[in-house]
Amino acid sequence: MKIIDVPVPGGPETLVLSERPIPQPKAEEVLIRVAAAGLNRADILQRRGNYPPPPGAPSYPGLEVSGTIEAAGEAVTEFKRGDRVCALLQGGGYAQFAVAPVGQVLPLPDNVDLIQGAALAETCFTVWSNVFMFGQLRSGETLLVHGGTSGIGVTAIQLAKSWGARVIATAGTDEKCRFCESIGASLAINYRNEEFVAATLKATQGRGVDVILDMVAGDYTARNIEALAEAGRLVVIATQGGATSTIDWLKIMRKRAVLTGSALRPRPTAFKAQVKQALLEHVWPRVRSGALRIIIDRTFALSDAAQAHRRMESSEHIGKILLTMGE
Ligand SMILES: NC(=O)c1ccc[n+]([C@@H]2O[C@H](COP(=O)([O-])OP(=O)(O)OC[C@H]3O[C@@H](n4cnc5c(N)ncnc54)[C@H](OP(=O)(O)O)[C@@H]3O)[C@@H](O)[C@H]2O)c1
Repeated sequence: MKIIDVPVPGGPETLVLSERPIPQPKAEEVLIRVAAAGLNRADILQRRGNYPPPPGAPSYPGLEVSGTIEAAGEAVTEFKRGDRVCALLQGGGYAQFAVAPVGQVLPLPDNVDLIQGAALAETCFTVWSNVFMFGQLRSGETLLVHGGTSGIGVTAIQLAKSWGARVIATAGTDEKCRFCESIGASLAINYRNEEFVAATLKATQGRGVDVILDMVAGDYTARNIEALAEAGRLVVIATQGGATSTIDWLKIMRKRAVLTGSALRPRPTAFKAQVKQALLEHVWPRVRSGALRIIIDRTFALSDAAQAHRRMESSEHIGKILLTMGE
């Protein structure tokens, strides 16, 4: 089968088309004939050599795919050959075939196109676990989402809105801000020319927000704490602005704020299987009803993976970038 390999860390040009044997599923795994793979920011870090795959994972990139079941391990009863699915992987999605633990595989709703389905897994697992499980967002509360037009951001905005929360987002251009508002944010702040703390406090009459989904960290942490309401929760999922922050504990104590964060990829399959059940119960009905729309920026052929990475690194995209496998 064809795959995209990264023989040496570096720029997009280090992504090369290569060949591997088709992997074989273990007892509780399925083999997926991949229709499309979703791109994630983590793939860029892996390509640069800054995010090595966990032990046992394929060496080549790709954290999520859509496709059809080609074969199932002997303990799998949930899926049969030909079923349309999407799956969260520990790696190896940039390939014509991929193996996934059954606890990380979900059936595609009928209204989701086989290619578009590749945009679902990573964003839904990440947003559900961070905003709803760890952040405990409730209906009637306010969520601040940084990076509102990222793959993660567009999912967080729509899910939180459909949950009955009010959503404020940040993004790096006015066009992106208008997009965030078109999918459910009541306010989007262009963080390049407006201070998000002041804008957030103004929009909440000085109260602040209940939950923040942050992918920046660094000097954002102190500012996020300023923007939190009493008993607010800050959930950090990436450190694009730096992994260390200086914070004022008195402000945390006064607000009884909760600071947390998580990384999905190294979590055990048992945890991901729990999230899968929650997605089937709470998120898949919203995909079926159209409350959660899949937002695709562009699709590229597998052989054009380097171009797809350049697109993501340009940060011009809105929503998900996909790689398609063709026939
Ligand atoms: N912890 C986890 O388990 C987990 C899982 C999945 C993803 N993630 C992380 O979540 C983030 C989004 O992932 P993705 O794949 O959806 O990537 P993506 O589409 O490339 O999004 C990256 C986003 O970061 C935003 N950003 C960068 N600097 C910012 C700043 N100073 N203020 C506000 N926004 C800023 C960008 O906004 P502009 O382009 O508008 O500047 C862009 O929307 C990535 O950092 C990724 O590593 C974490």
